[in-house]
Amino acid sequence: MTSVLIIFGSTGGNTELVCDEVSQILREKQHKVVMQRAEQSSPTDIKKYPYCILAASTYGQGLLQDHMGKFIKTCSPTDFKNKKFAVIGLGDNKYNTEYVMESAKILENTVKENGGALVSKALRINKTPVPHLETTVKKWAINLSKQLK
Ligand SMILES: Cc1cc2nc3c(=O)[nH]c(=O)nc-3n(C[C@H](O)[C@H](O)[C@H](O)COP(=O)(O)O)c2cc1C
Repeated sequence: MTSVLIIFGSTGGNTELVCDEVSQILREKQHKVVMQRAEQSSPTDIKKYPYCILAASTYGQGLLQDHMGKFIKTCSPTDFKNKKFAVIGLGDNKYNTEYVMESAKILENTVKENGGALVSKALRINKTPVPHLETTVKKWAINLSKQLK
């Protein structure tokens, strides 16, 4: 059992829905989970937990959701260095085929470029997450739970 912080940026609630499902699965696997909005988070929060999941949707032609974008800008490399992360990115290919679910890529790159470690492949969800909650999302969370020590 370990502790996991989930920081999410969600404008319309889709990313929040995915994070709720991930939280539920991790808790069922006996992990302690704290879930908080990016706009209510500070970089020092990351330091308090051995694992952090960063989750955000994509807006504005391949940009991070606004609150997550602002949160990431407040972070410095010391907030990532030698810490363990997983990332979740949402998007919709009807908006932009070139930048679909780009948030996952941006978050992955942010973690890697700042010396953090990714303990899992990113979870990417195209369009509404509802049909994927009991399948893709659940499977990803179960696999992630096995990586948490
Ligand atoms: C104005 C607008 C711009 C968007 N731009 C993109 C984009 O560039 N790439 C993408 O993959 N999805 C894009 N999306 C889709 C959202 O990322 C997607 O609907 C997501 O599920 C929203 O999650 P949220 O409710 O957690 O904010 C856009 C949506 C809106 C409304």
